Amino acid sequence: GGLFGAGGRFKGGTDPIMEKFNESISFDKRMWAQDIRGSIAYAKAIGKVGIISDEEVKLLVEGLEQVYKEWEEGTIEIKPGDEDIHTLNERRLTEIIGPTGGKLHTGRSRNDQVATDTRLWTVEAERDILKDMATLLTEGALYAKQHIDILMAGYTHLQPAQPIRFSHWLMSHLTPLMRDAQRLKDLIPRANQCPLGSGALAGNAFGVDRTFLAKELGFDGVTPNSLDSVCDRDFVVEFLMWHALMLTHISQFAEDVIINNLLKGIDIDDAYATGSSLMPQKKNPDALELLRGKAGIALGKAVGFTATLKGLPRAYNKDLQEDKVPLFEAVDTVKDCLAIATGVIVTMKPNPEMLKKALSPEMLATDLADYLVRKGVPFRETHHISGACVRLAEEQKVSIDTLTLEQLQAIDSRFEADVTKVWDYEVSVERKSSIGGTCKASVLKQIDDILDFAKTL
Ligand code: ARG
Repeated sequence: GGLFGAGGRFKGGTDPIMEKFNESISFDKRMWAQDIRGSIAYAKAIGKVGIISDEEVKLLVEGLEQVYKEWEEGTIEIKPGDEDIHTLNERRLTEIIGPTGGKLHTGRSRNDQVATDTRLWTVEAERDILKDMATLLTEGALYAKQHIDILMAGYTHLQPAQPIRFSHWLMSHLTPLMRDAQRLKDLIPRANQCPLGSGALAGNAFGVDRTFLAKELGFDGVTPNSLDSVCDRDFVVEFLMWHALMLTHISQFAEDVIINNLLKGIDIDDAYATGSSLMPQKKNPDALELLRGKAGIALGKAVGFTATLKGLPRAYNKDLQEDKVPLFEAVDTVKDCLAIATGVIVTMKPNPEMLKKALSPEMLATDLADYLVRKGVPFRETHHISGACVRLAEEQKVSIDTLTLEQLQAIDSRFEADVTKVWDYEVSVERKSSIGGTCKASVLKQIDDILDFAKTL
């Protein structure tokens, strides 16, 4: 039993297996800095209401700063009985400054303490991830700008559909990631509320100034209900759900790169591929497969932790300690994935010839229909006429763009000599000039908008 585990109420010792089962120091030590910052603010807050003297505040703050330094320098020791980061830091503080250390926890509970630490940690991680998102979006958009002239096949149902710009395709993956960055930004003000001063559940008996605590710790405000304060883990759920969605988007990107790699349209840099232990010719896109795979476990964590919260009674219950491992792992996974995805993008090489090879004139069948639309024929008719041309080319075993004017006119007399202009991928792409379309100006606009957005992160 540690500082609280074997308090005055307890006679017997704790089963060693229980100690191992119960501890969280092995993972919550990651919040050491937030825990100490929270304690320094709390020492000042109880000083402000006169529970401890100014000298005692000074002693506590200096002691806590010493503990902080020991963590920074890596000299702090984790001892048996240090159940969690809160007990460890208080134990060490008391070793350094003596019995005054025992005054720090006046009116405070580990319940409001851990809620505070976890929120501080989460908000910091979210702000950090926003920077990584900004890097990915910026590097990705600049890369798209560089490759603006390359065309490729666009697919629906994995069937060749219409020609598009390579950059338009890449921007189609950066766009959901832009929304993810917006979403992540939206989570921060809700997470950045201070629960400290809620006590164990009922509130603080010494009237600490919670607004002061919030300000000291850089929170945007204070949580409104003490019972909710100690058991609210919505901010963890929101982050986990967010990461599952963001990694789902990364997963889709990875799959698209893998497919284009198979078609030899995109070469993946050696830095993100591996060989086979048996087959010498292999270059496997492992980085992309892992990027594709991460979303599965990520979603599992989000669903799993939400299930942990389901049916919990008010207020704090130890179940809540289960928030940290998924939260920490999620942050690590997100940071790794963003770094790898950025690296993959800036080093991958499109092969314009191979990408062009994936284009075929049938992908201009819609343009052929549109040609007649521009001559006043209703689209429903032109769709049918163009379909007949596709069938004729198939029957004749020729490419649709080699059908003669006579053959076309036999299908519909309104075809004229200028129909040959249809068979140009660049023209087809440039016709898609509405907002969000694949023409050059539109894609460049998308790129500039994302570059501007990334600067706001
Ligand atoms: N290690 C605990 C957690 O992570 C801290 C809170 C413990 N509170 C308690 N009353 N046992 O949730």
